[in-house]
Amino acid sequence: MQLDETAAPGKVGMPANVAIIMDGNGRWAQRRGLPRSAGHLAGVNRLREIVRTASNLGLRSLTVFAFSTENWRRPDYEVQVLMRLFRRFVVREVDELDQMRARVRFIGQRDRLPADLRRTMAQLEMRTARNPGLVLQIAVSYGSRAELLDAMRAIAAETAEGRLDPEAITEETIARHLWTAGVGDPDLVIRTSGEMRISNFLLWQSAYAEYAFVEECWPDFTPERFREVLEDFAARERRFGAVSAAV
Ligand code: FPP
Repeated sequence: MQLDETAAPGKVGMPANVAIIMDGNGRWAQRRGLPRSAGHLAGVNRLREIVRTASNLGLRSLTVFAFSTENWRRPDYEVQVLMRLFRRFVVREVDELDQMRARVRFIGQRDRLPADLRRTMAQLEMRTARNPGLVLQIAVSYGSRAELLDAMRAIAAETAEGRLDPEAITEETIARHLWTAGVGDPDLVIRTSGEMRISNFLLWQSAYAEYAFVEECWPDFTPERFREVLEDFAARERRFGAVSAAV
């Protein structure tokens, strides 16, 4: 499979940077008469497979939406189940992620997470920091508006202190202050479970992304289906605001 190594417009090839909104765990479970927690557990198992596939295909980055700033409004029990699953994932997957030479980073409001989870997350990031393979970004307590707000505050502070001339602020300045700094913008954003919403995910970064909305709930999103979606992307034409003739 060929990767698109350039950001040039035209026939696109395989995407280098992919983001996924892993939606539909709850519905997947309810349809089977199971508790929602069973859906989240199936979701973790699916994530493990999709990460492996992304790494095998040579994707540069995979960003997954695991928990949003809005998800804190869910019942306490469900939030606790998810935190427990994140903790277990981080602890159990460390060796395999390291073996596949993946570099893991977490994006989101860390200060809202339990202290022990933050520590384990930091350990995983440190252990894999120098790995040259897939960059796996896990968005936990993530919201794009919160991220932009954070960036704007930091830029405003630098400006107020006289370290940054407002006239010198560029799109690049903003990108550098986002939690995703240094990782390529998504070429493709996938959302599972048939919902067609962006849900406050990578709003700045996905300005030129293609979207794929697939019907399967996240636990049913197999590696084969993932490959199909990537191949479908490869057949699309991206113009980045230009016209076909200019491509
Ligand atoms: C959306 O389904 C999914 C979530 C809010 C959680 C996503 C989390 C995982 C896949 C768990 C694994 C993540 C890591 C990093 C270990 P939903 O509950 O909103 O489903 P519904 O829309 O059918 O109710």
